[in-house]
Amino acid sequence: MGTAVKSWSAYRTNPLITWSATGALVLLPIQVLLGGLTVTQDLKPIIVTTHLGVATLILLCLLTTTLSSWIIETGGPKSNPERSEYDAPEKGGVEP
Ligand code: HEM
Repeated sequence: MGTAVKSWSAYRTNPLITWSATGALVLLPIQVLLGGLTVTQDLKPIIVTTHLGVATLILLCLLTTTLSSWIIETGGPKSNPERSEYDAPEKGGVEP
């Protein structure tokens, strides 16, 4: 929840960050529901597999949020100071 709120306040112009963080927030209650079903439905394979699939999607979303914002803040690995297109707009970067 905090990650999604912060993504909308600090990175509003970057749809990759805002929507990956929001995606994780939307998937979380589904995952909790599936976790409950995993228990009550005696580990039915389709439910356990979906539970694992949604967990993977949440991980993917949050990894995207983290890496995108890290690249914006630091310029990424071996960043070239001559190139500013990956910077936030207030640091001279180009709007996405
Ligand atoms: C953010 C919430 C959750 C995440 C990210 C998550 C993630 C996972 C993952 C990655 C596995 C391993 C799946 C596999 O080996 O196939 C798992 C297994 C399991 N989860 Fe969750 N889970 C969440 C919530 C819950 C909740 C709320 C419950 C129960 C109320 C639950 C019950 C279980 C059970 C019983 C298993 C074992 C399934 C087995 O024995 O194969 N999970 N969960």
